Amino acid sequence: MTRGGIAEPVPSVSEESRSSQRQKGSVARILNEDTPLTPANKAAKLSSDASEKGDLSMPAKVDMDKIVSLCKRRGLIFPSSEIYGGLASCWDYGPMGVELKRNVKDAWWKAIIHERDDVVGLDTSIMMHPGVWAASGHIDSFTDPLVECKSCHLRWRADTIEGKGCPKCGGELTEPRMFNLMFKTSMGPVEEEASTVYLRPETAQGIFVNFDNVITTSRKKLPLGIAQIGKSFRNEITPGNFIFRTREFEHMELEYFVKPGTDEKWLDYWVKERFDWYAKLGIRKENLRLRQHGKDELAHYARDCYDVEYLFPMGWSELEGIANRGDFDLIQHAKHSGRELSYYDAEAGEKYVPYVIEPSAGVDRSVLAFLIDAYDEEEVEGEKRTLLHLHRSLAPIKVAVLPLSRNEKLTPLAKEVFNKLCPNFVTDYDDSQSIGRRYRRQDEIGTPFCVTIDFESLEDKQVTIRDRDSLAQIRVPIEGLDKILEAKLKGEAFDASPLWATREKK
Ligand code: GAP
Repeated sequence: MTRGGIAEPVPSVSEESRSSQRQKGSVARILNEDTPLTPANKAAKLSSDASEKGDLSMPAKVDMDKIVSLCKRRGLIFPSSEIYGGLASCWDYGPMGVELKRNVKDAWWKAIIHERDDVVGLDTSIMMHPGVWAASGHIDSFTDPLVECKSCHLRWRADTIEGKGCPKCGGELTEPRMFNLMFKTSMGPVEEEASTVYLRPETAQGIFVNFDNVITTSRKKLPLGIAQIGKSFRNEITPGNFIFRTREFEHMELEYFVKPGTDEKWLDYWVKERFDWYAKLGIRKENLRLRQHGKDELAHYARDCYDVEYLFPMGWSELEGIANRGDFDLIQHAKHSGRELSYYDAEAGEKYVPYVIEPSAGVDRSVLAFLIDAYDEEEVEGEKRTLLHLHRSLAPIKVAVLPLSRNEKLTPLAKEVFNKLCPNFVTDYDDSQSIGRRYRRQDEIGTPFCVTIDFESLEDKQVTIRDRDSLAQIRVPIEGLDKILEAKLKGEAFDASPLWATREKK
């Protein structure tokens, strides 16, 4: 761990080798057979058991190029400022991507805040008083060791390269110098008088500095979590692997404040909760595992830390970190701001500085893992079908209404069906090109259900629902279609009732 303790192993150009060294190694702990079964370790073992059965590599169908190309083709993710040639490591979410990303954030917000009564939300500003970053340690130690090639002038993170020379041209490298990853800008209209401010590199500090505000206004007792989702910025030396590592990204962070002495129990609890969250949303357990940080790798603030890792095409890499930050942050901010940041426990009649358990995830990195895990190619009736088996709650479009053809007799009924559905679900209406092509497009963006209106529908007022995964079809009355779809989107099985005609997948 470099970066002055603000932990994050980096799968960039040389990440693969670095992470495999880590795993062969040494200090970090991939939880296995002998690991005591705390709840956290249990979740890890589940995944490592699967890995040991030999399923250690991603299915051959998935590589990053296919994901990048699907994202471009189907309006999920575009290179930023593409008409100007793009901007390194910056990406724009298109019409489908913005829905997917929003669904990931909503799923997190629901699980972390709405489905519990011990966590509240927050939305703090990106620019904060510079004192915050002095107190948190970011000004002094949010750094990576940077080396530059004397021949081709490419810059590298010193701790991610093997050998002595430049990984690109073999040229001689400069001595490493510490490079601070925070973006600086100035605040105020007159440049000379403007003060330096930073774009936040994590959302966590906005939570710590509002601890007292939230405690006094929410009237909640500890343990209490404060959560937020928002943009963070890091001037990464080696961004890459599509949206895995970028200089602008979104964080989903929870700071869970607990009584000292209960922190280890809560760390176990949150490790398991967070591992299960990915699995519940469809990520295969064999592609997830836990890795405990070695003592030498822990951030300066951390007493213990686990990474949830995902088997990305470039190898096992961090998806989310869950750290026990102890009382480091509240003590630092109290010291630097002069404001007392403690908690009075009325029941126990004692005052203390809470410890903090921090599950910290990246929205974009989660989106990438969900996309990769959902990606599939299969052959149906002699033709290749590419599809995303996205969890229903994550799919950008829930239902597509597809008239068999753009026909003046079919259109009014198809529009009627669309208008009936769209207030309830994100619904797409598509009557361009052949029905086969339209199915293919919906499969590629992971739409769980297509509703087809044909000429019989004009007579019998029934439509066909097609299931993305099984390709089974059921014919149902338009009256009540919304209720049927609602049940299916909540997870009701798509088994064909004997009343309905079905088409088996060949
Ligand atoms: N507050 C603690 C913290 O920020 P971190 O391990 O540096 O911890 C947490 O970041 C998560 O944020 C990572 O697991 C990753 O998902 C995401 N993340 C960090 N840096 C990123 C980057 N440059 N691009 C995309 N996601 C990033």
